[in-house]
Amino acid sequence: MTRKALSWEGQKLAVLRERWDRPHVHVYSSIDSTNTLAVELADEGAAAGTIVLADEQTGGRGVGKRRWHSAKGGGLYISLVLRPQEVPNPLLLPLLAGLGAARAVQGLVSGAAVGVKWPNDLIVADRKAGGVIAEASWSGERPKFIVLGIGVNVHQRAADFPAALRDVAISLDMAAGRKVSRLELADRIIDVLETSCLNPPEILDREVLRRFDDYDWLRDRRCSIDSGGSAPLLGTAVGIAPDGALLFRPDRGALQRVTAGRVVVQELPTPDF
Ligand code: BTN
Repeated sequence: MTRKALSWEGQKLAVLRERWDRPHVHVYSSIDSTNTLAVELADEGAAAGTIVLADEQTGGRGVGKRRWHSAKGGGLYISLVLRPQEVPNPLLLPLLAGLGAARAVQGLVSGAAVGVKWPNDLIVADRKAGGVIAEASWSGERPKFIVLGIGVNVHQRAADFPAALRDVAISLDMAAGRKVSRLELADRIIDVLETSCLNPPEILDREVLRRFDDYDWLRDRRCSIDSGGSAPLLGTAVGIAPDGALLFRPDRGALQRVTAGRVVVQELPTPDF
């Protein structure tokens, strides 16, 4: 059942609106999915910058129709409405958002390695700590709106994750060895996402590519690409191209640009995030 909340992390709604410098902040103690509501609100004309945030999601959605486990008080579950003039290269949105999330998290888990797994996973200490989903609505070539949804595991302990995820998931508290503030994380994520995704470019400039290199968790890892068709292709990830494609060197054959598909890393125990 959808339940509105008047505060989050001890901050009243009016305080959060002031803190994040916008009138449109919607907070729920429980909702099916912040993304679903944000898409509905955006369809009805919600302003750019509208935020939907929840303490619990009963139907949190991940990429590829997967479920996003969103236990009450466990993570940050947030969606942001953007209305860019153009989105010349939709592939870049989840990448830029993922990179933004990684930079936001880095300062909170000092000591733990933070990375981005192409195209949308936030990785901390070689485990999945969060993910990004970007949903767009188009009017011909022009975007009507984009909803960016970010989920980050914050307070979960290992036992809180479903058994199938226990070896591959991590929370920021687990990585930092202390309680990480969801409020501080939200501050950082909102700030960095609006800056990096406000006017998404067609290609990544040198500065952003260099930052990707710093956070590229897949680089030099043995992995397979599953595009849903024929047998998965085995090889090594070698970097990110300026247009956001994953650069992949198959064991046999020439360097490839991958723009869709699931990347499964070979050396991890249960690598299928
Ligand atoms: C993924 O890694 O598959 C992306 C996960 C995105 C989860 C977030 S939580 C907030 C927002 N609401 C949703 O239903 N999904 C996104």
